[in-house]
Amino acid sequence: MRVLVIGGGAREHALCWAVSRSPLLTALYCAPGNGGTAQLATNVPLNPMEFAACAEWAAGHAIDLTIIGPDDPLGGGIVDIFAAHGLKVFGPTAAAARIESSKAWAKQLLLDNGIPTAQATRFTDYAAAEAALRERETKGAFPVVIKADGLAAGKGVVIAHDAETARQALEDIMVRQTLGAAGNSVLLEEYLEGPELSLFALTDGATVYPLAPACDYKRALDGDEGPNTGGMGAYSPPGFATRDLLAEIESRILRPTMRALATAGAPFRGLLYAGLMLTSAGPQVIEFNARFGDPETQVVLPRLDGDEGDLLALLLATAEGRLAAMPAPTWSSSVTCGVVAASAGYPGPFEKGKPITGLDTLDADVLVFHAGTQRTGDGQLVTAGGRVLTVVARGNDMASARAHAYANIARIHFDGMRWRNDIAAREVVGHSD
Ligand code: AMP
Ligand code: GLY
Repeated sequence: MRVLVIGGGAREHALCWAVSRSPLLTALYCAPGNGGTAQLATNVPLNPMEFAACAEWAAGHAIDLTIIGPDDPLGGGIVDIFAAHGLKVFGPTAAAARIESSKAWAKQLLLDNGIPTAQATRFTDYAAAEAALRERETKGAFPVVIKADGLAAGKGVVIAHDAETARQALEDIMVRQTLGAAGNSVLLEEYLEGPELSLFALTDGATVYPLAPACDYKRALDGDEGPNTGGMGAYSPPGFATRDLLAEIESRILRPTMRALATAGAPFRGLLYAGLMLTSAGPQVIEFNARFGDPETQVVLPRLDGDEGDLLALLLATAEGRLAAMPAPTWSSSVTCGVVAASAGYPGPFEKGKPITGLDTLDADVLVFHAGTQRTGDGQLVTAGGRVLTVVARGNDMASARAHAYANIARIHFDGMRWRNDIAAREVVGHSD
């Protein structure tokens, strides 16, 4: 099979890595890719947001399956354009991707179908939202969560612990339009408390196969301090994700959501990603995404195991609507810990072009998935983004996976390199965070 992966982050490098292990694969392309995907695939300088150009390239190069990584092209309808060209593609249509691209639409779908999620009210008018806030103030009902409706590159959620912060956020998003059109409609949502869990599921609209659970770390600094980022690390599996809990999430959340999407006329084929909070009242949906998560993908895919561990076969069966005919994926008992190496300043402004050294000194069983990297004309690997690498180590338990990841990331160097020190620490006895 000739396969094209769309995207250029560490998630796409991990997808290329997993797909390249499949006996079905004959040729692999990645667009635009990065310095890491170039080792496994032919990078193609296509813009993922130019859907027709991508589809024409795929048709011209006899691509059998295109796998879409990022949310923006999915929300914009890349899958619909590929389908119109008669091309096979892994990912949901724009209609189904609304579960991620419109938080308000997703919230309504969940509430209408009794799928456990935080209560929320939608506002398109600042005065009405502000009035609701004032009423909340009289009850002292804080924290409250404010969410811009549209895709906002991870900046669309504000957790306000008091009315003043909430008012400022509403004003920024609705009046000053700091997030552009994503803020034309806003949700005021109840605050949920508990540990967070990411659970991916492959679904073709009729069958759901959950993948291994993971936790990610979104804040820039240790102890969940600092601004939100694209993700600073992840591990799989979390100890609290028991078999019973996962079965409950599948039956109360994943299956009903798949059915609700089909009933809404938007059957979902692709990767459904549930962001969950394990509250005292049980698991509740924080959000759904319509794609593989980053950096969770980098720690989940290396755990795919056995004869069922052919990711390409699973993605193809999903795209063709015959997932039920495939055995459910099984997972290695070894665990994974992934730590992101970022550029100084990220998620704010950062410099690029810093030479990366030390990758050739890593232990052979450690995986390095590239995000913002590039090879210069003379073959030197340099930084080209805020998140640069995800270093993933495996172990028989989280303490050893974690120690292995940190021992190896410390051997890598680029000017300004930084990482979080507390990834998976909560899983290890003796750590409190
Ligand atoms: P999102 O962009 O929807 O992934 O939200 C970003 C982060 O905000 C989540 O990972 C949660 O940590 C937090 N968050 C979102 N919604 C809520 C909520 N209703 N209650 C508490 N925290 C939330
Ligand atoms: N891990 C968060 C995301 O992919 O959105």
